[in-house]
Amino acid sequence: MSTTSFNVPMRLRRNRKSEPVRKMVQETILMPQDLVAPLFVIDGMQKQEPIHSLPGVARLSIDLAVQEAQALYELGVCAVALFPIIDPRLKTPLPSEAWNPQGLLAVAIQEIKARVPHLCIIADVALDPFTPHGHDGLINDRGEICNDATIECLIHMSLMQARSGVDFVAPSDMMDGRVGAIRKALDEEGFQNVGIIAYSAKYASALYGPFRDALQVRLAFGDKKTYQMDPANSREALLEAALDEEEGADILMVKPASLYLDIIAKLRNQTKRPIAAYHVSGEYAMAMAADRLGWLDADKVLYETLLSIKRAGADIIFTYAARRILKNL
Ligand code: PBG
Repeated sequence: MSTTSFNVPMRLRRNRKSEPVRKMVQETILMPQDLVAPLFVIDGMQKQEPIHSLPGVARLSIDLAVQEAQALYELGVCAVALFPIIDPRLKTPLPSEAWNPQGLLAVAIQEIKARVPHLCIIADVALDPFTPHGHDGLINDRGEICNDATIECLIHMSLMQARSGVDFVAPSDMMDGRVGAIRKALDEEGFQNVGIIAYSAKYASALYGPFRDALQVRLAFGDKKTYQMDPANSREALLEAALDEEEGADILMVKPASLYLDIIAKLRNQTKRPIAAYHVSGEYAMAMAADRLGWLDADKVLYETLLSIKRAGADIIFTYAARRILKNL
């Protein structure tokens, strides 16, 4: 056994001997205000559609999404992130539904803001729910995703969200330069108080499958590797985050979370900005699937996962487990 300089044995187990002692020395505490709950919104009234690959999560019509937002707020959650499921008939190559001021997303923002005014509303800024091919950007005739033309759409989308009442827009598209362009457009319209949560280091991950099921989006061709990051890279993530910060991002995000704790920890050393991490659909689904098989306890695995994400340096965690975890915190 190793010893202290006074030659008495080091007994680290003394600080683990009982629940209250362990609590006293606990370094990381997961709190309701750390969590952001994603909400999937559909048309209609009193509609609730379970998502088979995201057990415990459902697509909700706006009236039920308002109730869910209220319940989350009462449990201490500070923010929800909204994702609309768009009728395929409204999906067009130039996806103007993405900035329709009377569209599903706009109405969802307005309703939740009106009925749960102290809850912070975050809306995703990306074209994939609105394009027929499921990519996050506009496509040219060579099948490439066009960066700058897409940014024009993202600006329209951000302004529509700001006018509808969001607290934060969250560009998740990974086009270059979009944070600066969105910041400028928001400021020019007087939305200095609308913030930007930039999906800065968003990886081309295999863990987004259940989310795409939830949105009923399937990629018509290719993959997202020309805009989302290569999972092999970490320096590039720091560069992405530094650029977004320079362009005016208020909060920087790493996504996915638990397979990218090294990125969160490195970013923690680089920035003084708050860091968000997105515990994505596949991360949640893996724990739930193993639980169903009787192989793991989902509540314990999810708690440990979220704790590790916070320990690595994230201030805010987007997670489908919010509701489940909160009842145990
Ligand atoms: C869309 C978007 C995605 C997620 C959040 N916003 C999917 C994607 O990029 O394909 C994934 C979230 C999750 O898996 O939980 N831009």
